[in-house]
Amino acid sequence: MLQLAEDASKNAYVPYSKFPVGACVLAESGNVYLGCNFENSSFGLTICAERNAVGSAIAAGEKKLKAVAIFSPNMLNCTPCGACRQVLNEFQCPDGIDVITKVDNGVKVVKLSQLLPESFSL
Ligand code: THU
Repeated sequence: MLQLAEDASKNAYVPYSKFPVGACVLAESGNVYLGCNFENSSFGLTICAERNAVGSAIAAGEKKLKAVAIFSPNMLNCTPCGACRQVLNEFQCPDGIDVITKVDNGVKVVKLSQLLPESFSL
């Protein structure tokens, strides 16, 4: 999944930040969905890689996500921003979502609930 996230990061549209990110989500179906960040001259309209990947999963009919891998060539342990944590939180499978990042000595996996404790949901 991290390799797929790295592949997706190569499609990022980041003329302003020069900070490419790729994401790969794994759904309960076993299918994976990719996303990259894409920016806009109206900066606030930027879409993160993670939310792009979640959108692809939703568009394909998925509702429960098992894992997300995030990769940026610019940063080790590139974890989802706060907004993306909340969006991922909406679509957790019963076991929660594993958040997978690249670190110095390999791969790090944490539960989304560790990154977003006491989360809000309806
Ligand atoms: N970004 C992501 O795509 N995912 C994150 O989790 C953190 C931030 C993007 C947004 C923007 O295009 C660039 O990285 C710098 O913030």
